Amino acid sequence: MKNRIKDLVQEIESIVAKNNDELEAMRIKYLSKKGLVSELFNDFRNVANEEKREVGQLLNELKNKAQDKINEIKESFESLQTDDNKTDLTRSADPLKVGTRHPLSLTKNEIIDIFSRIGFTIAEGPEIEDDWHVFGALNFPPEHPARDMQDTFFIEQNPDVLLRTHTSSVQSRIMAYQKPPIRMLFPGRVFRNEAISYRAHCFFHQVEGLYIDKNVSFADLKQALMYFAKEMFGEHTEIRLRPSYFPFTEPSAEMDISCNICGGKGCPFCKHTGWVEILGCGMVDPNVLENCGIDSTVYSGYAFGMGVERITNLKYQVKDLRLFSENDVRFLEQFKSAY
Ligand code: DAH
Repeated sequence: MKNRIKDLVQEIESIVAKNNDELEAMRIKYLSKKGLVSELFNDFRNVANEEKREVGQLLNELKNKAQDKINEIKESFESLQTDDNKTDLTRSADPLKVGTRHPLSLTKNEIIDIFSRIGFTIAEGPEIEDDWHVFGALNFPPEHPARDMQDTFFIEQNPDVLLRTHTSSVQSRIMAYQKPPIRMLFPGRVFRNEAISYRAHCFFHQVEGLYIDKNVSFADLKQALMYFAKEMFGEHTEIRLRPSYFPFTEPSAEMDISCNICGGKGCPFCKHTGWVEILGCGMVDPNVLENCGIDSTVYSGYAFGMGVERITNLKYQVKDLRLFSENDVRFLEQFKSAY
């Protein structure tokens, strides 16, 4: 009996079948009621009592082996299945789930695209900066409140190593080693020591613009910004410049656009004024040019800086700033765009 089981184990291990019919024949040969394995089970009652335990175990192993082998061959057929009804070779492959760009990247890329059409190129600067590039070169008086500990993150108690609070710092870097004409955008992340809420965050994004050449005037600035506002928010968008103050520009202004949510009629977003502020700008202060080694008697220029979150809110009406940094795919996958 034991020898017959052993022979059958070997036989079963070498089973081959080319198709389902052959496999079925094998199943019948070994596992059907009158099959070879079942036959051995029938003979089991003739096994001597003291051997029953061992032989019974061998028989069960044999049966499992036969079943496993047949299943294995069957599965190998299924994976090769090329039944014409099931496999349409002309079908396109399973569509890949393509990710979406972050809404802030969409806005940033659109801003870059709009200004690149009028000759602006891109540069980036470091997020960890020194006092000179963030404040000193940009004409911030030593006691200016923006240098206050409350606004600026300093690194390791060293007052000269800090996280930049605005991308204007890249102006001072670029002007120090590049000679005019300069017509550039500086996109990047900035940091301020502010409590996080739906309308403020300790980091956010800006795009800075700088144009330095001979005979650059405020009219050039206004023209460039009007072009930008119409490209970004639609041709009916109007702009308004209000006098303001920044240490690094003189004169300085803040620019509002007619509220693109209510079309200027007044709504909660524009606090019923019809206007929303989107950027700060001005003519680069001659002190800044001189601080960076540019002759202010020969060159002049304009600069502007805008918050990417703010523009994104206007375009997509996102009401809570924190959504931009939480990485919730349910929020992120809603943004589909050419940029
Ligand atoms: N750096 C300013 C800020 O963070 C924004 C700004 C205002 C940038 C006027 C400029 C400018 O280039 O001319 O609030």
